Amino acid sequence: MEVKRRSARVVTFGCQMNERDSETIMGILSSLGFEESPSVDDADIIIFVTCCVRENAENRAFGNLGETKRLKERNPHLVVGMCGCMAQRSDLREKVQARMPWVDLVFGTHNIHRLPELLQRVFSGERVIEVWDEPCEVVEGLPAMRAYSHKAFVNITYGCDNFCTYCIVPYVRGRERSRTMEDVVAEVGNLAKSGCVEVTLLGQNVNSYGRGLPPRPSGVSPDFADLLYEVNSVEGIERIRFTTSHPRDFTDKMVEAAGSCDKVCEHFHLPLQSGSDRVLDMMHRGYTAEKYLGLVHRIRDVIPGASITTDIMVGFPGETEADFQATMDMVRQARFDAAFTFIYSPRPGTVAAEMPNQVKDDVKHDRIYRLIDLVNSTAGEVNDELRGAIREVMVEGPSERDTSVLSGRTRTNKMVHWTASKEHKPGDLVRVRILEPRTWTLYGEEVMSGGELDV
Ligand code: 5AD
Ligand code: SF4
Repeated sequence: MEVKRRSARVVTFGCQMNERDSETIMGILSSLGFEESPSVDDADIIIFVTCCVRENAENRAFGNLGETKRLKERNPHLVVGMCGCMAQRSDLREKVQARMPWVDLVFGTHNIHRLPELLQRVFSGERVIEVWDEPCEVVEGLPAMRAYSHKAFVNITYGCDNFCTYCIVPYVRGRERSRTMEDVVAEVGNLAKSGCVEVTLLGQNVNSYGRGLPPRPSGVSPDFADLLYEVNSVEGIERIRFTTSHPRDFTDKMVEAAGSCDKVCEHFHLPLQSGSDRVLDMMHRGYTAEKYLGLVHRIRDVIPGASITTDIMVGFPGETEADFQATMDMVRQARFDAAFTFIYSPRPGTVAAEMPNQVKDDVKHDRIYRLIDLVNSTAGEVNDELRGAIREVMVEGPSERDTSVLSGRTRTNKMVHWTASKEHKPGDLVRVRILEPRTWTLYGEEVMSGGELDV
């Protein structure tokens, strides 16, 4: 009997890379005739796009995969797939293979384009596990079902060559490959034609974009600054963002480019990780606290009003109280607009996981609480300076909590809420006066006309 499977749900964990991969997976499924299902409960195919950057990301994915056993009992024709970063790790995929017999399909980060064929085999009754250890050439032209029409992620590089000692990414995403400028610009152009106004350029280290690409007539390969100028010239795009930056590779030329390109937003996500030179060295980050701070000052000199956000980790092996205090000092000096804080999580196969002097859990917890307190109070102070200012805000849509309230983002990537006095659609640019800045969100009112825009 032929089974009619019609709807699919892609569940995403982890970073924007995965969100973008999920759009490709849903695009492929749609080209095979599947509609997007609003929930896993009614789906005929569920695909989990997984992350293994920290242990808790893994646990959540395993929890979700475990729950599909129940769905499968209810609907034996349900196809359950797992892909993404966890699938690249042989230990984790073997765990799924051995302990989760109801999972029908496992594929990796390098062979998403093979999904149609893999699914065909699953439909004919086979359990399919296909993961490639190495990526092939960058595959262009795959379909994508974009999550939004007004904004989009655009990959500029895949993979990572940095090998920070704590990080699993280079092992699960492979060596760094750049897309050509022509391909990136063509994608941005097509997005603009279909009504997209904001693009976020994605790479594990956007600042190393272009390495290994064929030289231009000038004799050198293009770099990230060159790419920013090109993308800036695409008509119809209003805002350009990028993530993630690597402080080591962020050149003055790139700061200048970000400053001169009118569409490039005044927001820089610069993962610090630690403020201690000793720890930064053990992490293999390639910069010192002083150098990092120099970059922060350079950005703020060239681009007044720029916001700077960061990632910080506590409890890296061997981190002492003095090292931790150096991190706290950096938070005070850099005055971050926001920071994502993490407890170091040993990742099997990485250099740091094998280091002696792993920090005890209670010490890690004590440090993260102190760090979060400081980060919140600094962010609160920084945001407080916006009281009364008028900012250009891109409408995202109604707020999740209260649909009479609209949400949007400033160019500096701050979330703003205001009571809707007029209808707006996602992607509209409006002016909002900030009345009540809080640590994570700004509350304001729409300004209909007049008023100086500060950024
Ligand atoms: N443990 C904790 N946090 C980590 N990150 C990366 N690897 C680990 C790890 N093993 C954090 C870094 C990175 C962010 C995406 O996740 O701060 O910038
Ligand atoms: Fe993204 Fe890294 Fe998680 Fe993979 S492991 S999804 S690259 S954060």
